[in-house]
Amino acid sequence: MKNILIASLSILALTSVLQATQDMEEFVNKKCGICHLAGKLTKEKLRNFSAPPMWGVTKKIKINFPSKQDGIAFMMDFTMNPSKEKMLFPQETIDRFGLMPSQKGNLTDKELQDIVEYILSK
Ligand code: HEC
Repeated sequence: MKNILIASLSILALTSVLQATQDMEEFVNKKCGICHLAGKLTKEKLRNFSAPPMWGVTKKIKINFPSKQDGIAFMMDFTMNPSKEKMLFPQETIDRFGLMPSQKGNLTDKELQDIVEYILSK
């Protein structure tokens, strides 16, 4: 009886972790994926993306900031206060896509932190 209880509790915990991950994935898609081609690729997204794909951004940040904490700080700051001087991507990125518009007002600091930690943990 006790074993069954433990087993069902573990399944419950696992399901809620999976659910949380899925919710986060959708949230990132909604907030960043429209421009950054995050999540599942669709023809629609491929036609409309207007920024470097998120996996490219993640790679760039990991190369430039070996410390995860620094990477998180950079990404959070850039998302709220983008500027040409801070950019890791080269001039050609601006020529093609323009500078990223600030996401101020589009998400709270807490939401941004959750998103950035999620993206950089992948
Ligand atoms: C309206 C479109 C748009 C949305 C929404 C958007 N971005 Fe961007 N982002 C861009 C563009 C365009 C660039 C490339 C030019 C640049 O670096 O500013 C970019 C670049 C970046 C960079 C790399 C900056 C560099 O060059 O070093 C980061 C980091 C970034 N975005 C994070 C995010 C995150 C996190 C979100 C979601 C919370 C997000 N962006 C949402 C358009 C967008």
